[in-house]
Amino acid sequence: MGIIVDLSRAESCLDREELRELRTRAAAVCRNLYEREDKEQVLGWRTRESSVMQLEEIKAKAEEIRERADVFVIVGVGGSNQAARGVIEALPQRRGPEIVYLGNTLSPYTIERTLEKLEGKSVYMDVIAKNFETLEPGSHFRILRQWMGSRYSREEMARRIIVTGTKGSRLEEIGLENGYLFLEFPVPVGGRYSAFTPVGLLPLAAAGLDVDRYLEGMEAALKDCLDNGEDSPAVRYAAVRQLLYRRGYDIEMIVSFEPRYAFFTKWWVQLFGESEGKEKRGIFPAAAVYSEDLHSIGQYMQEGRRNLIETFVSVKDPGASVTVEPCPEYRDGFDYLDGMDFAHINRAAERATWEAHGGGGVPCIRFEADEVSEKTFGELYYYFMAACAVSGELMGVNPFDQEGVEEYKRSMFAALGR
Ligand code: PA5
Repeated sequence: MGIIVDLSRAESCLDREELRELRTRAAAVCRNLYEREDKEQVLGWRTRESSVMQLEEIKAKAEEIRERADVFVIVGVGGSNQAARGVIEALPQRRGPEIVYLGNTLSPYTIERTLEKLEGKSVYMDVIAKNFETLEPGSHFRILRQWMGSRYSREEMARRIIVTGTKGSRLEEIGLENGYLFLEFPVPVGGRYSAFTPVGLLPLAAAGLDVDRYLEGMEAALKDCLDNGEDSPAVRYAAVRQLLYRRGYDIEMIVSFEPRYAFFTKWWVQLFGESEGKEKRGIFPAAAVYSEDLHSIGQYMQEGRRNLIETFVSVKDPGASVTVEPCPEYRDGFDYLDGMDFAHINRAAERATWEAHGGGGVPCIRFEADEVSEKTFGELYYYFMAACAVSGELMGVNPFDQEGVEEYKRSMFAALGR
């Protein structure tokens, strides 16, 4: 079974006829995405052929990393690290290197603490930067290169450094000049749409995850988007959230009762935030981890301004079991839980939240997976990317650019004398 999407609660807040019309338009936008020629060079994420590259090379390098490295450093920011991190942080650690992230901060404290983790360890790194112009990965590559240069020979560094960027970029040249393995970041794939390119694939494989299953998930969702038109979850979700937006719902919170999804929801926030927030428009994306965050924003969700959409990412089988054993002698007031498993308790809390927030006027949406696995991540990533592209185009913005982020960079680079 794939991902099940439940939109009934949100749909019941909307006019049926308007929704029907918008869904038909969303299906047309989706069809057009797949049929049109990629003149702007932004649609490379659509198919396996235009995303997945160098798979055998990636698998071989990942095996070497897993055998020889204690630490694997993923250097990248935004779309260049979030998809991989979303999966790696959610799935159980396999035997193999510790995965460490750099190139995603300018904090000297964090950089120093992270470098400390590398001391005395066998280190490999993958530097991921589409055009190799971004400050964080570019500057950290230099620091890490120098760190490695004082510990490894030139030949050894050539084995241990992988660079992932576009063909023709300075990063590719550095790779060629120094004998580093170069992985291609396809030009027609934007960072936040790069989950199925070498950007996401090498980190996943190096973490010991099953990239074939991950790509199977992608292909299942792609087939669904191609074959099922108006009934595809991507189209239905895009239509519902756009109609909600037109009715004043301009914040969408992605929530999960699984803390392991926290980095996945961070990826989702970036995907929708960078794709839709432009021209003074867009649904503001936010994320919360329940049940913890019910104790901070639960009150607002229940009774605050009614401009919120709440999208649950649920999982049927949490893949773990912890039972509450009876303990009558303590009279702690929690005997009603005796014999219950936390899988049941967590599920009950999720159902109760769904009912309470829905009843309080929040249009609730649910994406439900059978389990947290490489395959379900492949499906979720693909559905959300396709939905985001359709949703952005329905709203009349370009979901593939991010001109706005250049603004702060101009003053920052001026201050740094670039
Ligand atoms: O989605 C995007 O395009 C961005 O979030 C980029 O991924 C991010 O800014 C990093 O860019 P780069 O890979 O060029 O360093």
